[in-house]
Amino acid sequence: SLATAAPPTFHPTRLPPYQSLCANLDTVRKVTDNAPLSLAEKILFSHLRNPEEVLAGKRGVDLRGKEYLPLRVDRLAMQDASAQMALLQFMTCGLPQTAVPASVHCDHLIQAFEGAEADLKRSIASNQEVFQFLSSASAKYGIEFWAPGSGIIHQIVLENYAAPGLLMLGTDSHTPNASGMGCLAIGVGGADAVDALTDTPWELLTPRLLNVHMTGKLSSWCTPKDIILHLVSKLTVRGGTGRIVEYSGPGLASLPATGLATMSNMGAEVGATTSCFGYNDAMARYLDATGRGEVKLGAEQAAARGLLSADQGAQYDERIEIDLSTLEPVLNGPFTPDLSTPLSQYTRNAKDAEKRDHPLELSAALIGSCTNSSYNDLARCASLARQALDRGMKVKCPFDVTPGSEQVRATVERDGLTSLFESVGGRVLANACGPCIGQWDRKECQGKENVILTSFNRNFKSRNDGNSQTHNMLASPEVVTAMAFAGRLDFNPMTDSLIAPDGQPFRFSPPEGDELPAMGFTAGEVAYLPLPAPQPQPEVEVAIDPSSSRLEHLQPFGSAFAGGKYELDNMGVLMRIKGKCTTDHISAAGPWLKYKGHLSNLAENTLIGATNAETGRVNSAVDYEDGQEVEDTIPGVAKRFKARNQPWVLVADHNYGEGSAREHAALQPRFFGCQVIVARSIARIAETNLRKQGVLTLLFEDEADWERIGAGDEVATKGLEDLLKPGGDLRAQVTLLVKKRGTGETIEIPTKHTLSRAHLDWIRAGSALNVIRQQAAS
Ligand code: F3S
Repeated sequence: SLATAAPPTFHPTRLPPYQSLCANLDTVRKVTDNAPLSLAEKILFSHLRNPEEVLAGKRGVDLRGKEYLPLRVDRLAMQDASAQMALLQFMTCGLPQTAVPASVHCDHLIQAFEGAEADLKRSIASNQEVFQFLSSASAKYGIEFWAPGSGIIHQIVLENYAAPGLLMLGTDSHTPNASGMGCLAIGVGGADAVDALTDTPWELLTPRLLNVHMTGKLSSWCTPKDIILHLVSKLTVRGGTGRIVEYSGPGLASLPATGLATMSNMGAEVGATTSCFGYNDAMARYLDATGRGEVKLGAEQAAARGLLSADQGAQYDERIEIDLSTLEPVLNGPFTPDLSTPLSQYTRNAKDAEKRDHPLELSAALIGSCTNSSYNDLARCASLARQALDRGMKVKCPFDVTPGSEQVRATVERDGLTSLFESVGGRVLANACGPCIGQWDRKECQGKENVILTSFNRNFKSRNDGNSQTHNMLASPEVVTAMAFAGRLDFNPMTDSLIAPDGQPFRFSPPEGDELPAMGFTAGEVAYLPLPAPQPQPEVEVAIDPSSSRLEHLQPFGSAFAGGKYELDNMGVLMRIKGKCTTDHISAAGPWLKYKGHLSNLAENTLIGATNAETGRVNSAVDYEDGQEVEDTIPGVAKRFKARNQPWVLVADHNYGEGSAREHAALQPRFFGCQVIVARSIARIAETNLRKQGVLTLLFEDEADWERIGAGDEVATKGLEDLLKPGGDLRAQVTLLVKKRGTGETIEIPTKHTLSRAHLDWIRAGSALNVIRQQAAS
């Protein structure tokens, strides 16, 4: 039964610490001699743990792309897939509660198949143990738990937690969605999440700044989605890497806050760290509508002290101008979000069989998801459905609507939008990720070439239904809805007519819809809602079935340096990797994802994508124990080392561990006993993640030495003691003493490193979590 309740009660933990942020900003201004600051710099620097130390004698621009900022984050959100390992790691620290307010959201594990109710029931049954684990761990540590059915992480965060000036992390790449509310929200891996949960300084390489200045006003068919689809095509999928996109200009004033969220959500599609917008009236209206008058009040005071907008004269690394009046709706895709075509041109070309490489008929049209499921989006789409319904028309292809949250779902149902979508043949799916993340069980199109049109954010091959022949085109929800009535891609709703059942032509008028519900939001099914700021319940036992194949308690890693011994010896060499070795090669995804919370099962995929330089084969390694030569899979040989308790060295090529922030790529080798990785170069995030797990990472002083070490060699260190002993010399050089297989000759391989004192603490203790546990116990 649906209760028509008000939005969840506001709790002070949802109010950013404006007083201390403003005080910190004053310090920053003093230290930087009042140099003009951008908005992104203000939010980042006001979250510095030690602004005097980091900024002394420098300007913000000096740090960009060069120095790391040790930051204190305000809040963390985790989705059900990535939360598992983050919480399992946090549990090993022995802390009674999380250091910052945190929330868990059950959304990714819900499959779309028949419709909201049945899908939810089935997904809860098949993921029962994971949901129970997440809910019991949340109760124990005082985390807000949003149950399956409550909605998609990013929409819930926007409605409840996102607030101007906040710095928050989320274990999902579209976390920047929350930045639509004037904060900095950044997507991270589980290891960074644990930093936030344990109050360890979270380090971010100072981003470069890209200013997008907007003038003009969008035309009636154009939406914020078209702005970001246009920008993605300008910047390409890599154009935002290492950057924050800071928007400015008078064009912003006419956009709803939820539209800004759509734009910052898809900043992830250009690889941006996040996006940001100065505090404005649309945000104030949204805060009011979502029951957060106190945040509005605090934000207004902080804005008056200069925290929530850029200074005149702030410096940016790049600038792009967009006149919104010149934009027209676009379609992006297929297979990449940066391939953009204006709607008029696309539909013209689509009519021309020679210019298109896919069928014209739409096999499905989908709106909603974390990217575009605001009340405003759905109201505007409903206005189109109403026009068509009045002329007796129905959609010509399956038309699915994914509400972003229970609050949006219940509100659009109350306001009659749901019945409108259903009257024209649409179907409302569960409040969850479903088709957006590939949780779309769609048997009818398996293996067949087909085209879908969605208002989602990603359109890589196989993303939605696992079928590599599904061409996914991205557009605004309004364009998706209108085109669903044609069921074809050569229909331009701005200029073309359809034939209504009465035989007369029908043309859509431009969409219209309220920015926010006139009667306010309703919370819907209140059973899904967490307590605001729940208290930790230490007596709760975290639910992990010892016979589970999906969840397993993590055992803390031991230290190799107990008892005051700081050199390593008797290490084997697992293999020498040749060429690319990304996080996908180290810890593959796909079918392995179900083991995200079970390290020993997941570790069965360790390095299976890596190429062995000595055998020339992928997933091949050779063990030389006792002079015997045994070739096996890489995890097979790693297990042999673990079984005989022998630590090992991994030899890697350039940019080892590039790709994602996936912490499993560091946990798995360590689980099998990896103690040292020596490489030509290592990707920065992978390197930090490895050190966090207690793995010593070294680089060849002379890259040619990569060839001089291989399987069957025995390795020891020389000089590690000078570095690693408490108060050691950070400039000390570590040399690897390599006893060669066969000849028994020992050669010396000099290395270099970029270890900091904190990294040495982690390595000495066996892991960063061990350091935290020791501190908690003392
Ligand atoms: Fe991500 Fe889409 Fe869910 S982008 S959060 S999968 S709705």
